[in-house]
Amino acid sequence: MSDHNTLLAAARAARENAHAPYSNFRVGAALRAKSGVVYTGCNVENSTYGLTVCAERVAIFKAISEGERGFDAIAVVTDTDQLTPPCGACRQIIWEFCGDVDIILGNLKGKSETHRTSTLFPKPFDSSFL
Ligand code: THU
Repeated sequence: MSDHNTLLAAARAARENAHAPYSNFRVGAALRAKSGVVYTGCNVENSTYGLTVCAERVAIFKAISEGERGFDAIAVVTDTDQLTPPCGACRQIIWEFCGDVDIILGNLKGKSETHRTSTLFPKPFDSSFL
C-alpha cells in the first residue's frame, strides 16, 4: 500500500539519525497522525543504558508534544532480516496513544509486514481499568 510505503520511507530516513553507539542497533519509526502529518523518531541511547528511548516512543512523544491526538499507523525500520517488532514498553505506549492501528515493520531490503496493535499486544492494561 502506498501509504505504508510512505511511512516506511520516513522511518528508514529517521533511522539515519539513530544515536546507538552502545548496541549499534539502529531503529527508525514514523507515525501518521489523523491530521495527515507524519512524525518520525529514532532510538536515542545513553551511556547509562537504562535511559535509552526507543524510536517508536520518540516519534509518539514528539507528536503528542506537538498537540496531535489520534493516529492511523506506525512504521518501524531496522537493518535486519528478521523484522523488528516494538518492545513491550512501546506496545503499551502505542496502545495508549494510537489504539488498534497498523504496525508496519520493514527492513532495508524492502521486506515488510503489517500487524495490528491488538495482535501484538493482547489484553492490555489501560484507562478502562482505572
Ligand atoms: N529499539 C527500538 O528503538 N525499537 C524497537 O522496536 C526495539 C529496540 C532500540 C532500543 C535500543 O537502542 C536498541 O534498539 C537495542 O535494543
